[in-house]
Amino acid sequence: MATLEVRGVRGGYGDVTVLKDVTLDVRDREVVALVGANGAGKSTLLRTMSGLLRPTAGEIHFNGERIDHAPPHHVVDLGFVQVPEGKQLFSQMTVEENLLVGAMCPRARGERQKTLEEVYGLFAEIADKRMRQAGSLSGGEQQMVAVGRALMARPKILAMDEPSLGLAPVVVERLFGVLQKIRESGMTILLIEQNVQQTLEMADRGYVMENGQIVLTGAGLELLGNEHLKTHYLGL
Ligand SMILES: Nc1ncnc2c1ncn2[C@@H]1O[C@H](COP(=O)(O)OP(=O)(O)O)[C@@H](O)[C@H]1O
Ligand SMILES: [Mg+2]
Repeated sequence: MATLEVRGVRGGYGDVTVLKDVTLDVRDREVVALVGANGAGKSTLLRTMSGLLRPTAGEIHFNGERIDHAPPHHVVDLGFVQVPEGKQLFSQMTVEENLLVGAMCPRARGERQKTLEEVYGLFAEIADKRMRQAGSLSGGEQQMVAVGRALMARPKILAMDEPSLGLAPVVVERLFGVLQKIRESGMTILLIEQNVQQTLEMADRGYVMENGQIVLTGAGLELLGNEHLKTHYLGL
């Protein structure tokens, strides 16, 4: 059974239709990449999947339950948890306070101490800074707090919106290394990125979005060999 199924979704903002007819699925324990240029509609799709925007057509199902009209907190309770574009941390709060915000949902609250130690185990650099204000950390460390906060909700699917954006290559390497560990723990991952090469190398499958539509899909490595993708995304 597919964990997440998006079927013929249309949607956007008021009268502005961004998503035209999007069909995509993420199965249990897969790492699925959603790549595409700036403005393609990737974040709009994530906002629609997480209940922040309502589709005007189509359906979204998560573990067999229809979620396209569910409120965002219910989607989180079911285990679909996102790391939003631009991190959106509480910069005046400490690293640990930010992490604990992620564990507010009923499913995660009881296990929050254990999960906190797991997150610090994955991200040693933020463990050392747990009592620092989140806003005082480097961009890479803040992204780790944002991923950690999502993990605090004990997701069944972790969806990330451009976690590598604006980070130096060495920090991106480190972040992808941790994502690899998270994947090995059995997590299902939806990774939205403009960093096409690294993302497709890691992904089991990928989707390429252009103008609110999926124009290509296939295994990660297969897509990396695709001529359209090479020309338009990899500059080869
Ligand atoms: N809040 C908004 N209101 C109206 N249009 C928006 C809003 N956010 C994004 N858009 C438009 O939706 C389109 C897709 O944007 P977005 O989903 O952010 O793309 P991506 O994440 O792939 O860069 C763009 O044309 C963008 O201008
Ligand atoms: Mg975006």
